[in-house]
Amino acid sequence: MKHLTIILIGVAAILLVIAGCEREITGDLKLADNSSVGCFDCHSDSDVMLRQARIQYENSVHAVADNSNRNRLYNSRYQSCEKCHTHQGFVEFVTAEPATGDHFTAIECFTCHAPHSSGSLGLRVQDPVILENGVAFDRGAGVVCATCHHSRQDVTTYVVDSVSVNSRFGPHHSNQSDMVIGTGAYEYAAYSYSSSWHSTGVADGCISCHMSNSMHESVGGHSWNMENEDRGFENITGCNQTGCHDTSPLGDLNPLASADFDWDGTTEGVHDEIEGLLDSLVVLLDAANLTDSTGRPISRTVASADSAGAIYNFKFVEEDRSHGIHNTKYTVGMLQSSINFLLTGNPNGAPSGKIAMISSH
Ligand code: HEC
Ligand code: HEC
Ligand code: HEC
Ligand code: HEC
Ligand code: HEC
Repeated sequence: MKHLTIILIGVAAILLVIAGCEREITGDLKLADNSSVGCFDCHSDSDVMLRQARIQYENSVHAVADNSNRNRLYNSRYQSCEKCHTHQGFVEFVTAEPATGDHFTAIECFTCHAPHSSGSLGLRVQDPVILENGVAFDRGAGVVCATCHHSRQDVTTYVVDSVSVNSRFGPHHSNQSDMVIGTGAYEYAAYSYSSSWHSTGVADGCISCHMSNSMHESVGGHSWNMENEDRGFENITGCNQTGCHDTSPLGDLNPLASADFDWDGTTEGVHDEIEGLLDSLVVLLDAANLTDSTGRPISRTVASADSAGAIYNFKFVEEDRSHGIHNTKYTVGMLQSSINFLLTGNPNGAPSGKIAMISSH
């Protein structure tokens, strides 16, 4: 009997290694205690979970990895980018063990998990992430996301008087963590900012929304997508879970806003209200020669931090890319205060109509 078990384990292990040979083997294959029996905890009974994660992962932008060439081997000036844009750079950053090898690869399973060295599917990052402005992001398993998805600038030292602006001015495409917890925008001293429930109430932060619906291959789970535009499919399961929008379930990701934020006379979906505010802000930024009409910052020295802050807030909302869903109140606050500042010099107030409409007359 014992003999048979050993033969079975041996055969299974050989099959496993053959299956593994289809891909480049990137992880350490030995478990801490050097045994192979532990392999079957994950590679037999729970195999479905691994396959499911794999299929979903193939539909993730992480797997597409258009920007994984941002690393020192491709171009030395990209070394600061690799900790977020490559597997090796991230592992070096979180383990402090120098990255080796002659080509850096895209984010994959072993970027966030280290099953073969830890023997579990636990995440490499467990502690709160300190954002560039010193504020801690502490939202359960979402800390692994925040390690990469945070602003690259500290607004308090980046947006100052006489700042030299260029076309790349802004927090970088990755400021979602700052937005979610309501920090890191340019905050006008005279304005009082607040945040939506999402900033504190969603226990696992990013994970609770982006990894909900783990049964679908192109949204939720390890795809981390909230929608499949081709199929017109939106992932609203996370929104409607118990304790969230379950008493009045959401039908889509553009739910009716609580007020007419963009002053156009109609209360529309959150996405549309935020787009309305962005349209208005860019009209004013363009008129002040701070950006062009598409919102691209103009290279120049900007005398006051309050003016540069309006550009920063425009980019902050654009680069967050959730159209206000991550933190509606904070998004509305930073756009309204920027618009009012550019109009009157006072971040508080309410224009007599939607700026983008008034100014096109
Ligand atoms: C805690 C769970 C876990 C344990 C235990 C485990 N693995 Fe894995 N293994 C994984 C995950 C996750 C992957 C990545 C799956 C994928 O790429 O789809 C993986 C991938 C592999 C691969 C493919 C390598 C690659 O780079 O894609 C091989 C081969 C493999 N494991 C062998 C083993 C062997 C042999 C053992 C026992 C010594 C073992 N595994 C134990 C979770 C585990
Ligand atoms: C190692 C750094 C890193 C980690 C960790 C990480 N991401 Fe990403 N993420 C990226 C990068 C880089 C991209 C863009 C890929 C590219 O352009 O090459 C991206 C893209 C995305 C996108 C797609 C955006 C689009 O363009 O549609 C989503 C959604 C996303 N990440 C969510 C998450 C979530 C949720 C987590 C946590 C489970 C997470 N990410 C963890 C670096 C990371
Ligand atoms: C703190 C982590 C981090 C660092 C450092 C970082 N990035 Fe990114 N970058 C991201 C994340 C996360 C995304 C994806 C965000 C999204 O898709 O919303 C991204 C997206 C991008 C994109 C794609 C934008 C798009 O819309 O397709 C480019 C280009 C890019 N980064 C270039 C760079 C370069 C160049 C550097 C180094 C000078 C760099 N990044 C450093 C996290 C980082
Ligand atoms: C960007 C980070 C990231 C990457 C890359 C990643 N995972 Fe995960 N994985 C997570 C997070 C976050 C969780 C949820 C952990 C939690 O809730 O505590 C998770 C959970 C899992 C689980 C447990 C599922 C469950 O619900 O219990 C499995 C299995 C898994 N991952 C396999 C994989 C495989 C296989 C790959 C590669 C195809 C992969 N992961 C890539 C972040 C990642
Ligand atoms: C309350 C639910 C929720 C939370 C929490 C959340 N997101 Fe999102 N996220 C969304 C929704 C909804 C969208 C917009 C999707 C759409 O409309 O296309 C989005 C959009 C994004 C995008 C742009 C994707 C794209 O296709 O353009 C990225 C990247 C992203 N989120 C990352 C994160 C990260 C990282 C965190 C944690 C710091 C996070 N999100 C927390 C719901 C959430």
